[in-house]
Amino acid sequence: MIDKIDETRKSFDENLSKVENLTSLEDLRIKFLSRKGLVSQLFESLKDVSKEEKPKVGQALNQLKIHTQSKFDELKEKLEKGQKSLDEFVDLTLPGRKRVIGSKHIITQTLDEIKNIFKGLGFSIYEGPELESDYYNFEALNFPPDHPARDMQDTFFVTDKFLLRTHTSPVQIRLMKEKKPPLRAIMPGKVFRNEAISAKSYCLFHQVEGLYVDTDVTFAELKGTLVAFVKQFFGQDIKYRFRASFFPFTEPSAEMDIWWEPKGKQGRWMEILGCGMVDPNVLVNVGIDPEIYTGYAFGMGIERTAMRKYGIDDIRILFDNDKRFLTQF
Ligand code: DAH
Repeated sequence: MIDKIDETRKSFDENLSKVENLTSLEDLRIKFLSRKGLVSQLFESLKDVSKEEKPKVGQALNQLKIHTQSKFDELKEKLEKGQKSLDEFVDLTLPGRKRVIGSKHIITQTLDEIKNIFKGLGFSIYEGPELESDYYNFEALNFPPDHPARDMQDTFFVTDKFLLRTHTSPVQIRLMKEKKPPLRAIMPGKVFRNEAISAKSYCLFHQVEGLYVDTDVTFAELKGTLVAFVKQFFGQDIKYRFRASFFPFTEPSAEMDIWWEPKGKQGRWMEILGCGMVDPNVLVNVGIDPEIYTGYAFGMGIERTAMRKYGIDDIRILFDNDKRFLTQF
C-alpha cells in the first residue's frame, strides 16, 4: 500500500510537470483529485489495510492528499495569472523581436536621388499621363509622319490615336503648353516599348526628362548642368564625354557617355542620356516664340543609370520582385 502511494505521488509530479495550460491542468485534476480520482481510490482501499498498519498508511495518504492539492492550487494560480509553467519568468535581457519592414525599390531610390540633385540645381518636378496621344508623343515633338519610332514594333498603340508613351518627352510639350517661360523642370515617369524582353531591354522602364526654357539659354548651360549632375550622382571623379547625335525635337543634339569600368572588367564608354537645344519647330508647336526664347532638354533612362551605379547586369531582375534581390538595397 505504501508503495502504491509513492507511485501515485511520482506519477502526479510527472503529470504536473507536463501541464502547459488550464485545460491540461483540469485533466490532471480529474485524473487525481476528483471524487473518483486516484487519490480518492487510495482512501477507499484504506478499509482493507490491517489494523496495525492503518495509522502509518493513513498518515502517508494524508500527506499525499496535501501534497497533490497544494501543488495543484499553486500551478492553477500561476496559470491563471498568465504564466505558462512554474519555471517560466520574463527575461528582460533578451533582445527585442525585429519587425520585418519593407524597403524602397532600387528604382524608387534612384529616382529620389536624381530628383534631389535636380531640385538642388533649381528644377521643379512636373508629371504627365502614361496614356498619351500620338500628337504629344510624336507629332508635336517634330517626328515626321513616317518616323520608324511610330512603328507598331516599338509602340504599344491602344487605338490609332492613343498609345502608351514611348518616352517622357511628351511631358515637355504639356508643360510648355500649360505654363509660360521661364520654365525649369524635370519630368520623371514610366515609359513603354514593344521590344523583345532580354537582359538589356524590358517592355517597361522609367525616364527622367529635363527642360529649361528662357531667354538666352545656351548649350554651355546644358553641359554645365549635366556635368554637375553626373558628378553628384556617380562621384566627382567620373569621366564623361558629349557626342553629337540626332533627335527630331532638338537641334543641335548630343548624347552623354560616362566611362564605365566594372570591377575586374574592361572599361568602356556607356551612353546615359540624350540632350540638345529645343528645336525651334517644337517651340512654334507649343506657341512659344523662338525669336525670343531658347531652351535645352535632356532625357535619361533610370534603369540603366541604376544598373551602372549598383553593378546590376540584367534589367529583368528589377521587375521580378524577388525579395532576395530587393533586400540588398
Ligand atoms: N526621348 C529620348 C528617348 O527616349 C531621350 C531624349 C533625348 C530626351 C534628347 C530629350 C532630349 O529631352 O533632348 O530616347
